[in-house]
Amino acid sequence: MSSSVASSASSAPVAKLPQKRYYRQRAHSNPMSDHCFDYPVSPQKMDWKEHYPDYEKGRTEVRFADIGCGYGGLLVQLSPLFPDKLMLGMEIRVKVSDYVKDRVKALREQNEQTGGYRNIACIRWANCGHVAKREVLQHLLSL
Ligand SMILES: C[S@@+](CC[C@H](N)C(=O)[O-])C[C@H]1O[C@@H](n2cnc3c(N)ncnc32)[C@H](O)[C@@H]1O
Repeated sequence: MSSSVASSASSAPVAKLPQKRYYRQRAHSNPMSDHCFDYPVSPQKMDWKEHYPDYEKGRTEVRFADIGCGYGGLLVQLSPLFPDKLMLGMEIRVKVSDYVKDRVKALREQNEQTGGYRNIACIRWANCGHVAKREVLQHLLSL
């Protein structure tokens, strides 16, 4: 699903935020059953530009991770507070991660003039509690 576009009173197209009701998914998710994940072998192998339009390799690295980001509430709140930090939400439920992706896309479109929300992104990542601790957090985050 992608964010749709509506017209405002001034007839300029305005990106519409996605509606949660179309992205509901029960809490249980079994990533081993019918899903396929592409895991990068290391954070350096990630194509961050795909997630952050302003990303420049070697200059800006992902600094905050929200593991189990749900519908992205924390990311959206933190984004304007730390505009220079890249933040990554990781969510196991496919519909919920789709919601966050569409939410970020719509927010970026709505805030195109200020460049807002270009520092947050979401990926679907299963069992990141185990994988991220070892492989990602120590490389990515300024801990
Ligand atoms: C309480 S919600 C998160 C709320 C969110 N941090 C916020 O501030 O709005 C917990 C989320 O973690 C996700 N989750 C649970 N286990 C996970 C795992 N192993 N990997 C990724 N996400 C997971 C759930 O699907 C759920 O959406």
